[in-house]
Amino acid sequence: MVLNNKTFLITGIADEHSLAMYVAKAVIKQGGNVICTGLGVSPFHGDLSDRAKDYLNNTFNDFKESIKTHLGSNASAEILDVTLDDNIEFFAKNLFKNDIKIDGILHAVAMDKTIRNKKVKPLLDVTFDEFCGTMDVSAFSLIRLTNSLFKSQVLNPGASICALSYIAAEKVTFHPYRNMSVAKAALERIVIELADEMGRSNGTRVNAIRFSTYLGSKAGAATLTEDDVAKSNRISPLGNASPRDLANEVVHLFRPESRITGEIRHVDGGYHIMG
Ligand SMILES: NC(=O)c1ccc[n+]([C@@H]2O[C@H](COP(=O)([O-])OP(=O)(O)OC[C@H]3O[C@@H](n4cnc5c(N)ncnc54)[C@H](O)[C@@H]3O)[C@@H](O)[C@H]2O)c1
Repeated sequence: MVLNNKTFLITGIADEHSLAMYVAKAVIKQGGNVICTGLGVSPFHGDLSDRAKDYLNNTFNDFKESIKTHLGSNASAEILDVTLDDNIEFFAKNLFKNDIKIDGILHAVAMDKTIRNKKVKPLLDVTFDEFCGTMDVSAFSLIRLTNSLFKSQVLNPGASICALSYIAAEKVTFHPYRNMSVAKAALERIVIELADEMGRSNGTRVNAIRFSTYLGSKAGAATLTEDDVAKSNRISPLGNASPRDLANEVVHLFRPESRITGEIRHVDGGYHIMG
């Protein structure tokens, strides 16, 4: 039980197939507590269209139900839109008020509106707003979250932060993945810069894991085809890594008293070594 008495903030659970759900289960199995956050209607959203409200309400219901069913009653499910400063501020202050301290964060959030029905807009056609929107959700949110938790004094010294990334941050992939690749590259650079800043200020470790293609989640199903996943499985010497492989590695990085920081690791069955 390597995570006994430790508490982790798990972002990015949409449903039971989310990669973050596998991580939450593995954390609990190792004795840790989880606070799970997901999208939903909040007072910080301002005016929302009926369509946006429906989407957020449905997303929150799926999220809450899956937490209850798969993680049990000790896991909390909170609304947190990582693009809204006020929402993050409120969340962090609430933790402080309730004397809850965090020993680590899983950043498993990404969104790119230029990917629709497995079709990806060429980078040349991506608008400034689409570019910034993807950066905001998928990369800058790591700075926002870390800053807010740290400044609200709820990030324990020696905490461990782990972000989920993909090989496309560095290499052009066989399936089109353009605007998001730029955001993943930014996310990885943020990981490295934060590892320096947060290591010195709070003993906090910050790492990223590049994971295999995975069709099971909503994000995976929106981006990938079965052929894509079969192809990366063939190319990888060990075949594609599974969500459980990923969860085990996150637990490894979450362990207290480790000196691993600023790493961009691969849990991808060796895909990254292939030409
Ligand atoms: N599926 C894959 O093939 C794969 C491979 C490597 C890395 N990843 C990364 O893993 C992470 C998790 O993806 P997944 O495959 O589990 O898909 P998923 O769809 O289950 O998770 C993505 C999550 O991002 C959340 N999200 C989007 N916008 C948000 C916002 N503004 N505020 C808060 N949450 C928001 C969604 O609600 C969802 O829970 C992502 O960063 C993804 O890029 C996925």
